[in-house]
Amino acid sequence: MSPVTVYARRRAAIAKALRAAGGGIALLPTAPESPRNRDSDFPFRHDSYFYYLTGFEEPASWLAIEASGKTTLLCQPKDLEREIWDGVRLGPEAAPAALGVDAAASVATLSDAMPRLLANQPAVWFPFATHAGLQAQIDGWLGVLRSRVRSGVQSPQSQHDLCVLLDEMRLFKDSHEVAILRRAGQISAGAHVRAMQTSAAGLRGNIGGGLREYHLEAELLHEFRRHGSQFPAYTSIVAAGANACVLHYRAGNAPLLPGELCLIDAGCELDGYASDITRTFPADGTFTPAQRTLYDIVLAAQDAAVKVTQPGKRFTDPHDAATLVLAQGMLDVGLLSKTKHGKVDDVIESGAYRQFYMHRTGHWMGMDVHDCGDYTEPGSKPREEKDALEQMVMKKPPRILRPGMVLTVEPGLYVRPAKGVPKAFWNIGIRIEDDALVTAKGCELMTRGVPVDADEIEALMRG
Ligand code: GLY
Ligand code: MN
Ligand code: MN
Repeated sequence: MSPVTVYARRRAAIAKALRAAGGGIALLPTAPESPRNRDSDFPFRHDSYFYYLTGFEEPASWLAIEASGKTTLLCQPKDLEREIWDGVRLGPEAAPAALGVDAAASVATLSDAMPRLLANQPAVWFPFATHAGLQAQIDGWLGVLRSRVRSGVQSPQSQHDLCVLLDEMRLFKDSHEVAILRRAGQISAGAHVRAMQTSAAGLRGNIGGGLREYHLEAELLHEFRRHGSQFPAYTSIVAAGANACVLHYRAGNAPLLPGELCLIDAGCELDGYASDITRTFPADGTFTPAQRTLYDIVLAAQDAAVKVTQPGKRFTDPHDAATLVLAQGMLDVGLLSKTKHGKVDDVIESGAYRQFYMHRTGHWMGMDVHDCGDYTEPGSKPREEKDALEQMVMKKPPRILRPGMVLTVEPGLYVRPAKGVPKAFWNIGIRIEDDALVTAKGCELMTRGVPVDADEIEALMRG
């Protein structure tokens, strides 16, 4: 299927949903350009919803989809002077053939075009709370229509959140998306391999000068970009030694030292789709016994979580499975005292494991690294549950996993120095993260091009 057909089908699905909801029009801008300082902008990155429905990457663009199925694009007009400086623009004349939309006009006509498109529509759909100022813009266009009421023009009488429709569509990846996600996962895995090899070579003294976190970040970026990735999907974490215990650490200038671990959480974005991999490896290529003990617990936790990442299970099942293995491991190795904390069920019940494992085991992933999608089961009834603060709240049951969903599986252990914690484990931070596509029978890990088993990591690093 050509990409133009892929996007046209998605727009048609939105039009169908509008008809099912009683008609109306959906309006969607792409992302704004964002100034960095003076006349320099941050690199432009399209809005994910907009790209999902158009495949169009230029800034200053809008899409309108009417319930009838008619689609209109507003985009930057051709302008030789600007194109000399900023690059070629598609322009409204070429847009219908290139993108498969029915009509296109210059974005300079926005304030005339929008009231015209909104006139006599029963409802307007747009993404709520995602674009600063959008609600006010739409209010302004509705105000224009109201002022024309005596000429018989009707203004939409209801407003709806377009995210509700798009989030549900985006949660289930189609074959076009899966192909890109697999490739993004392969590129990122290759980048992790390269970082491990560089670390080993650097600590063997084969690379001049001391190796620091930013050297490994440079290797990641090099590998992403040389395979066509446009951006990292998020700010890369390269954390040497104790820095791994800082969950949102960024690659800094700390040295990589023999006997210490390095945690890398990094993934590329390819053609609008993310990947998200974490590997933790010994900087010099050999795990110490204490590191290896904790590493194998985290890997066993990930294995347990992967086993229940399958259709029919709930989104929270991988987390529960991983937490059980981690909590048992904490008791086995003395991170938690059995005398004080009891058995594994007690540790789960009391939440004592949170001292060393304080995040969830995964999230949806797709165009955005933390992708959209309801984490609770649509159409289900809320039930009474305890929240993190032990308060009773009404919650809908967690989402049931179904083929086409993509989620990460990323357990970890982070041991900060503390009284009662064996010193051998102090400052060890480990996370292992892969990206899973739920399939008909289980899941496919799209990021296993980089080894995860401790022996295999050591073998790779021995080179
Ligand atoms: N890299 C962000 C995350 O793992 O969720
Ligand atoms: Mn993640
Ligand atoms: Mn990650």
